[in-house]
Order: sequence, then structure tokens, then C-alpha cells
Amino acid sequence: MLIAPVLDRHLHVRNRITWEREKGRGSKANWKNNAEDIWYCTLGNEYTFNVDAVKLKRRVLAPYRHDDGTPKDWDETETGSYRLTYPSNLCSDITIPFWSMPENTDHPTQKPEKLIARLVLASSNPQDVVFDPFLGSGTTAVVAKSLAVALVASSSMRSIAAGPKAPRKGGYRYPHSGL
Ligand SMILES: C[S@@+](CC[C@H](N)C(=O)[O-])C[C@H]1O[C@@H](n2cnc3c(N)ncnc32)[C@H](O)[C@@H]1O
Repeated sequence: MLIAPVLDRHLHVRNRITWEREKGRGSKANWKNNAEDIWYCTLGNEYTFNVDAVKLKRRVLAPYRHDDGTPKDWDETETGSYRLTYPSNLCSDITIPFWSMPENTDHPTQKPEKLIARLVLASSNPQDVVFDPFLGSGTTAVVAKSLAVALVASSSMRSIAAGPKAPRKGGYRYPHSGL
């Protein structure tokens, strides 16, 4: 929690996003640490937030209808009833890149392409430049390429050495972005 006051001195802290990463070392004497924080900050009050690009498709639990019987803010499809909902600061639908997934590398703290894609899509436009000073296995590079944003990045030699042994097969397509 010490990070928030430091960020607040230099940036506008807008939210704290919690990512439930679906994996953590279990403990017999404590709750398993299964969450990571993403501090969402902007330089000023004018900033990009493409909310429509990162809306989530959710199954409808309470299917309200208009008086004429048509669905209210949701769609009826052959596979069920869905609505597009505003993204929240809880990400519980994205796992770490497990070993069996094509994007997996040997990097010990590799982030999922879907998580990085969500952040890049929300906060940048195709002509923008994304800066990642801790590139690690190259997740942001893969995402930037697939979303057609330019990337400036750096990382320690140690993390580059732990990066992918073969070119990464990723190239995540985010569902509602049209990209
Ligand atoms: C949490 S990992 C980033 C993981 C990356 N997002 C990915 O998906 O692979 C942070 C990375 O930054 C590197 N790193 C740590 N301190 C650094 C520094 N001072 N300068 C450059 N890179 C650094 C680490 O070696 C590590 O690979």
C-alpha cells in the first residue's frame, strides 16, 4: 500500500485494479496470495479511456425485457443470453499463461497477453506509443504488434535471457475491439 502515496505525488491515481491470477503458492497458515495490483494512473485530466473496446460479455442472469417483450440491454443468441457490461477493477477472467498455453515462456513472472491487451486497448489508440520499461518475456511487444501500436521498451539482460526460446506464437485478438 506504500506505493499509492508515492504515485499520488506525481500522477493522478484513478483506480487500483486487482487481477486474480489463478495461481499462487498455497499456505497452511494463511490465505494464498492470488492477486496482483495494477495501479491505473494518468498524467493529467485529459486521457484516453476506450471503454467500448474493453467491455465484457457476460451471461444475463436477470433478463429484463421492454414492454413489447424485446430484450433490455442484452442479446438473445443460439448459445444463450448475453450483455456487454462495463469493465470493473476486478479481473477474475484471466489466468497466468499456463505451460500448456501457446504464449507460455520460461519467464517466471510472465503476464498474460489478454491482460496486457485489455490495458493497452483501454488506454491507447493505434497511432500511439506504448512504453514498457520492464518487458520481460516480451508480452507487451506481442500485444502491441497485434493491436498495431508502436512500442518503446527495455528490460534487464537477465530477463531477456529468460525470455522465449522460440518466437512467441501469441498475437491476442481482443473480442470487442474489431482488432
Ligand atoms: C514482472 S516482470 C515483467 C514481465 C513481463 N510483463 C512479461 O509479461 O514477461 C519485470 C521484468 O523487469 C525486469 N527488470 C527488473 N528490474 C529492472 C530494471 N531496473 N531495469 C530493467 N528491467 C528490469 C525483470 O528482470 C523482469 O523480467
